Amino acid sequence: MPLYKYLPVLAQKNCYILGIESSCDDTAAAVINNGRILSNVVATQEIHEQFGGVVPELASRAHQQNIVPVVHQALQKANIDKNQLSAIAFTRGPGLMGSLLVGTSFSKSLAFGLGIPLIDVDHLQAHILAHFIKTEGQTPPNFPFLAMTISGGHTQIVKVSNYFEMEVIGQTIDDAVGEAFDKSAKILGLPYPGGPLVDKFAQNGNPKAFKFPKPKVGPLDFSFSGLKTSVLYFVEKETQKNSGFIAENLEDICASIQFTIVEYLMDKLKNAVKKTGITEIAIGGGVSANSGIRKALREAETKYGWKAHIPQFEFCTDNAAMIAIVGELKYKDRNFAESNVMASARMKF
Ligand code: KG4
Ligand code: ZN
Repeated sequence: MPLYKYLPVLAQKNCYILGIESSCDDTAAAVINNGRILSNVVATQEIHEQFGGVVPELASRAHQQNIVPVVHQALQKANIDKNQLSAIAFTRGPGLMGSLLVGTSFSKSLAFGLGIPLIDVDHLQAHILAHFIKTEGQTPPNFPFLAMTISGGHTQIVKVSNYFEMEVIGQTIDDAVGEAFDKSAKILGLPYPGGPLVDKFAQNGNPKAFKFPKPKVGPLDFSFSGLKTSVLYFVEKETQKNSGFIAENLEDICASIQFTIVEYLMDKLKNAVKKTGITEIAIGGGVSANSGIRKALREAETKYGWKAHIPQFEFCTDNAAMIAIVGELKYKDRNFAESNVMASARMKF
């Protein structure tokens, strides 16, 4: 749509952006006003728990059911009417196609109906730019910084030179780190998603009780499929000897798995710092909620002189506040999407 159509909206001093996220199994909506989040609503789909992982068909169906009430609630909590919105930002990708389509079609229709601009957002850029949400007691990272995105779907280290000037310098060649947590948890009989439970049981366990190998790949690349297999073989072997092995050693097993993963992530960060000379590190994605990685990064501040940025928990896991902040940054540049913009399961920046 030509820019002049939006002139009345663009003339407004106070901009309110609605962010919509539907790339995986969370339906989320948030409203941002001048860098501050007014509302951040997430409906997590519990239906997948019984299947031990996200079922794409069920995810898109649940998004369809959730999206209207979630957006409604986000507007209500922000205490604004939809007619006050300046633009709508939505996750274009990457993610599950069926899930993305729900958010994309909904956002397009709403923006068209309200006569306001539409802004497409890259989910992975959003995990990184979530650090620019104005948060009490936190300062945003300075450019350039290294962003490590660790989630159930992604594991990568990105060199961030400016808001939209990003270069992926390392990534996983197979599973994501969240999958390593979740799959190990499943082997231990824990429900999906098991990452937070591994973290919980690890608190009281001995991290050196059992040793798991760290996969050998390029210095900035990650591999997690081998870890899952070694956990499986180890547990099978020990259970044959003692059927109560898991129950008797759950805390030590979880602590040892977590120790291996955290040490591996820290090794990769050290390699990235060595390669780039950048010591400001920002983490994002669901796994950044993990207490082990948070502690290791805080320790690295004193040990190596790094500056670590760890987002507030609600901005770590999939959320729409991070979509809204990217929306606001793009809105300031008048960087709008065409009305025929399509969802994209795979995206590169
Ligand atoms: O970012 P996110 O909400 O969704 C994706 O984009 O994937 O990340 C979800 C992932 C899951 O694998 C979940 O088990 C993991 O983050 N996770 C954790 C913790 N909290 C969430 N993993 C380890 N420790 C945690 N405390
Ligand atoms: Zn994510």
